[in-house]
Amino acid sequence: MTDAAGPRDPGGGPGGLVLDAVSPAFAADPYPSYAIARETAAVFTQPGDHLYYLTRHADVHAAFRDKRLGSTFLHRYTPEELSLPANIPTWRDPRWTQFQAFERWELLNLEPPVHTRLRRLVLEAFTPRAVAALRAPIVERARSLLAPARERGSVDLVNEYAQHFSLGIICDLIGVSPDDRETIKRLSDDTISMYEPGLSDEQQARADQAAGDFRRYLLDVVAHRRANPGEDLVAALISATVEGERLTDDQIVSTAMVLLMAGHEATVNATSNGIAALAANPDQWRLLRSGEVSVRDAIEEILRFDPPLQWFERWVLDDGVDIAGVPLPLGARVALVLGAANRDPRRFPDPDRFDLRRDDTGHISFGGGIHFCIGAPLARMEMETTLTELLASEEELVVLPGARRRPTFQFRGFERLEVALHRAG
Ligand code: HEM
Repeated sequence: MTDAAGPRDPGGGPGGLVLDAVSPAFAADPYPSYAIARETAAVFTQPGDHLYYLTRHADVHAAFRDKRLGSTFLHRYTPEELSLPANIPTWRDPRWTQFQAFERWELLNLEPPVHTRLRRLVLEAFTPRAVAALRAPIVERARSLLAPARERGSVDLVNEYAQHFSLGIICDLIGVSPDDRETIKRLSDDTISMYEPGLSDEQQARADQAAGDFRRYLLDVVAHRRANPGEDLVAALISATVEGERLTDDQIVSTAMVLLMAGHEATVNATSNGIAALAANPDQWRLLRSGEVSVRDAIEEILRFDPPLQWFERWVLDDGVDIAGVPLPLGARVALVLGAANRDPRRFPDPDRFDLRRDDTGHISFGGGIHFCIGAPLARMEMETTLTELLASEEELVVLPGARRRPTFQFRGFERLEVALHRAG
């Protein structure tokens, strides 16, 4: 393997691409391909997709904090100024007006100063202290979801447990009625699908429609809350003032949408990835059972080993930017590959080993810099609760036949993961 300073095309597998986002084999296990990209060049490129991939830990870590890279360019340039039409991702397509209306005020898609103001408000609801206050109801929710499954002797951890668990928690926080959780799930799944690569026009139109339905649903929630003040996050956003100004309905709705989507999807996937890794490594489960490793440390290794969000993109906003000695043109799209960075042997010894005693919290699974995950304390608490509840009763963790990974690559998790459960007591 070479360690070139410049971008390189190493050729790749039969399809020609090393990082083939639409290949089922790549989605099933992207880590060997990441290793090839990571050892080939600090800035990896391949034919056809107009992306500059960063796969090394130090570079991804720095890129999240680099002010010359933006999660959007629209605050500074038009697409024409950057000559983008040929390489914009589907979700930037101006045809999808309903999706664009959501993206217009989506936190992840904003840059300072607007981002700073909106984020400050949302952060108040997600400080470690605010989240600690949710612990008792969260534990209660986990127990009541697992109780009937224990009676049956097994649980599909994704569909019978984690989805209901995480979705219920975030819906209650935002102020969505329990009766509407299924609707939210459907709208969220369909809207999020817009971020996947390789969609047909029909699939994109469906995602656009879902974004519109999701917005209209939440506009009604906001209108209802304006008329009937309450204690939830929508109520807090309605009454919040930023430098003397109130948030608009569009800003509140986009914020609620991103929280509802980010607030369950990634946690469900992280939970299933973690349970699968523990089941595949019974010695590690025994370390947890014996108390030699704390649940908190285990969560960090789970997040490092198999993160639920595999990459995020940034745009080069200035002239003269170089990364690891490689010049990147204005308007270039840069992919920050978290899954590869977390397995970089330069940062983590023996990185492909799932090792709960690693005692290293340096993973990048929650990002970094100004967009660092707002929900990290909540996600950690949810995962801790689930693991603690399973540890309380399960001598062994056994995955039953029929486990299925999601075919998607950016959102990495399981579609189905049935686990044997012992009777409580
Ligand atoms: C294990 C679970 C989770 C993981 C791995 C995760 C990961 C991430 C990452 C990597 C980012 C940064 C993206 C970027 O820089 O482009 C992010 C941002 C964000 N996350 Fe999470 N997340 C998780 C759970 C949650 C939860 C539970 C919530 C909400 C309750 C949430 C809300 C958000 C929001 C609102 C942002 C955008 C912040 C901003 O732009 O300022 N996430 N998350």
